Amino acid sequence: MIEISNVSKSYENNKKIIDNLNLKINDGEIFGFLGPNGAGKTTTIKMITGILKMEEGDILIDGISIKDNPVEAKKKFGFVPDSPDIFLKLKGIEYLNFLSDIYKVSINNRKEIIENLSKKFEIYDNLNDKIQNYSHGMRQKIVIIGALLHNPKNWILDEPMTGLDPKSSHILKELMKSHTQNGNSVFFSTHVLEVAEKICDRIGIINKGKLIFVGTYEEIKKQLKEDASLEDLFLQITE
Ligand SMILES: Nc1ncnc2c1ncn2[C@@H]1O[C@H](COP(=O)(O)OP(=O)(O)O)[C@@H](O)[C@H]1O
Ligand SMILES: [Mg+2]
Repeated sequence: MIEISNVSKSYENNKKIIDNLNLKINDGEIFGFLGPNGAGKTTTIKMITGILKMEEGDILIDGISIKDNPVEAKKKFGFVPDSPDIFLKLKGIEYLNFLSDIYKVSINNRKEIIENLSKKFEIYDNLNDKIQNYSHGMRQKIVIIGALLHNPKNWILDEPMTGLDPKSSHILKELMKSHTQNGNSVFFSTHVLEVAEKICDRIGIINKGKLIFVGTYEEIKKQLKEDASLEDLFLQITE
């Protein structure tokens, strides 16, 4: 569960990038975070994950404040950033072992999880190559696997489908579904509205730092009194 309460943020020029954001992601739900480029999705995700400081408000992950108790809060989620270009000098397996060490995943557990996920994402045979030699999609996969090693209850993913081939994207969606069916939560940003329409239990739409809609796809249709695709509704309300 992720609870965002009265969160605001501005960068140097004092313009509010996030304006009094309130949002709750419940256990058992896939929540899609939508909005045009520059709307504030990544800024929000960076505040949830403790990378950026918020100016006002607080964010609780399973009841633990990322502001007051960042180390404990960080144990509660797995995070996939918007760019997978990290630790390029490491081999895939070194990166996964490094993260397993940080999250104190036992040798036996990590072996099983790494083998299982890397075979699923068809990257098992590349684990001994350096990440700098990976394609964008392969980097994305290794970062996703790294985020799931410690079996976090909450998944926080910033545009996770970007660069993934259709099969991997399908696998990730299936993993997201089974994760939430087991009572956990997934919070992810995306531009792929068809994906949001299909798999999200609820969506939130942010525009210019303000949350302009939260609810189910059915609710947004009702609110706009239109039976249109999510794409059409999105274009209409972010106009
Ligand atoms: N480090 C930064 N310094 C100043 N402005 C920033 C910085 N990072 C992002 N912004 C601005 O904040 C706004 C929101 O950006 P971002 O959260 O990355 O949007 P999104 O992920 O929805 O595309 C944009 O106007 C962007 O230009
Ligand atoms: Mg972004």
